[in-house]
Amino acid sequence: MSKLSLVAYTFGVLLFIVSCSLSVFYGYKVVTHHLPVEKKVPDTYKYHFVLVPEELDNEYWRLVESGAKDAAKKYGVLLEYSGPKQANIDDHLKTIEMSAASKVDGILTQGLSDEQFTPLINHVIAGGIPVITVDTDAANSLRLAYIGTDNYYSGYLAGKALITDTNGKANVAIITGTFYANHQQQRVKGFQDAVKEAPGIHIIDIQQSEISTVKAAEKANQLLKDHPEINAFYGTSALDGIGIAQVIEKYKKQRDVYVIGFDTLPETLDYIRRGTIKATVVQQPYEMGYRAVKMMIDIIEGKTVSQVVHTETRIMRIGDLPVSVMHNKEDNN
Ligand code: BGC
Repeated sequence: MSKLSLVAYTFGVLLFIVSCSLSVFYGYKVVTHHLPVEKKVPDTYKYHFVLVPEELDNEYWRLVESGAKDAAKKYGVLLEYSGPKQANIDDHLKTIEMSAASKVDGILTQGLSDEQFTPLINHVIAGGIPVITVDTDAANSLRLAYIGTDNYYSGYLAGKALITDTNGKANVAIITGTFYANHQQQRVKGFQDAVKEAPGIHIIDIQQSEISTVKAAEKANQLLKDHPEINAFYGTSALDGIGIAQVIEKYKKQRDVYVIGFDTLPETLDYIRRGTIKATVVQQPYEMGYRAVKMMIDIIEGKTVSQVVHTETRIMRIGDLPVSVMHNKEDNN
């Protein structure tokens, strides 16, 4: 071999080795990027479950996560908490698909809409992976169980509370999390049915907040401008009441507006204590997470579980605030 062809040959071999390494490296990156985290379950865990909420960094869902993690710790389960950082239905569906593709032992998620979630849940179940709906049910799907609030009933309770607190006379604006979600629709429907019985209650308008405090505030502000007759608000998801209350505090001197919200996040309790939010619908997010994990284990181990488990829901007003909450807040003032 001539000197020149030896150099060309060596260069060719080197080029081949480098390009092979690069394609292996980048190929690996492309593939692993799409795989859910922590695919390999260490031997110390019995099962690997994924909890997929509609929004990861939502205080309400952090409570569900905390219940699920506590149960997971107790029963030897590896629990991943994975999903969209901010509410996004496509990312939510994709996370469920990816979890199924990575063959987890069980998926806990919301059944947000029949149109998009039912076919996917059925597909995952057909592939042999159990699915439990938490917080929001896709009742027409093949999900193995639902645990969460009876959302229609909780909306009905809110309607009854508003009638009592306003002496049956109010012009109400509703701010709901999203128009497409099953549980939000049920909370609105329950409310509408309850207030049908009170001729002095009128629903003026309904807007969606995309489960964001900022958007709930924007919508509340606009509603007050567009409809000066509005003197009551009903917020149907955890951050709606907070967004509404921020706006109401600005208008407080000019207008006396009644607010009923959902959930018992610390900020909501603050607004109740200050009298801006008059009532809220209590849910049990920690318990939902905890019991969902236990139910999934029972299902996998062939035990009988109820198909529908409704966690407690009720109305909370200032007089129902735990004494410690009242004291802590007063101490801070
Ligand atoms: C609902 C959750 C929702 C959250 C949004 C809660 O009231 O139960 O499904 O994601 O509000 O902040």
